[in-house]
Amino acid sequence: SRHIGVLTSGGDSPGLNAAIRAIGKTALDTGRMEVVGFRDGFRGLMENRLLRLERSMLSSILTLGGTILGTSRDKPHKMPVGGEMKDMTEVICDNYHRQNLDALICIGGGGTQKNAFRLAERGLNILTLPKTIDNDVYGTDVTFGFDTAMEIATEAIDRLHSTAHSHHRIIVVEVMGHNAGWLALGAGIASGADVILIPEIPYDREKIVQAIRQRQQRGKNFSIVVVAEGALSVNEKKTLDKLREDRAKAKESSAKSKSRKKAQDAYASFARQRSTHTLRLSQQLEEMTGLESRLTILGHLQRGGTPSATDRVLATKLGSACVRYIDEGIGGVMVAVRGDSTEPVPLKDVVNKRKVVPPDHSWIESARNVGTCLGD
Ligand code: F6P
Repeated sequence: SRHIGVLTSGGDSPGLNAAIRAIGKTALDTGRMEVVGFRDGFRGLMENRLLRLERSMLSSILTLGGTILGTSRDKPHKMPVGGEMKDMTEVICDNYHRQNLDALICIGGGGTQKNAFRLAERGLNILTLPKTIDNDVYGTDVTFGFDTAMEIATEAIDRLHSTAHSHHRIIVVEVMGHNAGWLALGAGIASGADVILIPEIPYDREKIVQAIRQRQQRGKNFSIVVVAEGALSVNEKKTLDKLREDRAKAKESSAKSKSRKKAQDAYASFARQRSTHTLRLSQQLEEMTGLESRLTILGHLQRGGTPSATDRVLATKLGSACVRYIDEGIGGVMVAVRGDSTEPVPLKDVVNKRKVVPPDHSWIESARNVGTCLGD
């Protein structure tokens, strides 16, 4: 029989267990496959921590949040081992062969696709599934976990709406999404946010203040401002682009390690400072509008708990399709969503790209059509 390995890597996302279940059931049903799960992402593969996925382990997990396998952000080529960062790729490849694997399924977001591709380049038979609440994996219509997170964020913002209204306040809501604004935009539209700020559209604080004032003139003394964690002002964007450019230049050129370190430090300091940007925005809006303002960070609430029906269906479909592809001898691919069906997309076409919200996307148009301020 054929041996299939599976691991979940990167931030967890509702639907992981539904995918593991679909992989396990579809594979076992062929009568020709066995499945092992590695614990805590690539780390479990490195440390040979695994469990055989028997039928009994696959029942009652469809509706569970998180992942029964555990996850981590560890990368094969840069893993903390004994207090040091080490390249464990060799060990991982050896373990793949030692376990007699015919294929390894890596379930993850953008980072996982990259790490999986590196292993595929080393000759391992790798397939991936796209999951992340950020919905920013390139090459697929959608990722599982996104729908659930959008539901959770929408419900939370609905609740914030009524308290903002009662207290005549601005409420700034920070939603996840470092590089892409899908979640902020989707939940913002669904909950009728007055302002939505996303990384793809650098914002001008004055425009936000104007929007809030216009509402005040119409007798609305409260406003909901939904901000993706990666949203930035026009000036911040300029600074960030410059820092990135400096860092890339220092890395490329034979620049002395001193100047390389300086460029890296400058970037890291900007990133640290960014972790409190929504608090600063809330305070600035309070000062600029005279309305009291509060900040709510939804954080990991958006990733926890049971998946929505849509994500359960999607994860089930992707998990089963992946096993079918393995059976057909297809490898080195991400199982992507294309409309109602799935499609194997070569990993090389997926990595090092991100699916951000395009400027002409219908959601941007919808938000503008109902008078939502996008900060520009
Ligand atoms: O990539 C998914 C994500 O939820 C991002 O939206 C967020 O920036 C990040 O993970 C948070 O990561 P962590 O789990 O390390 O707190």
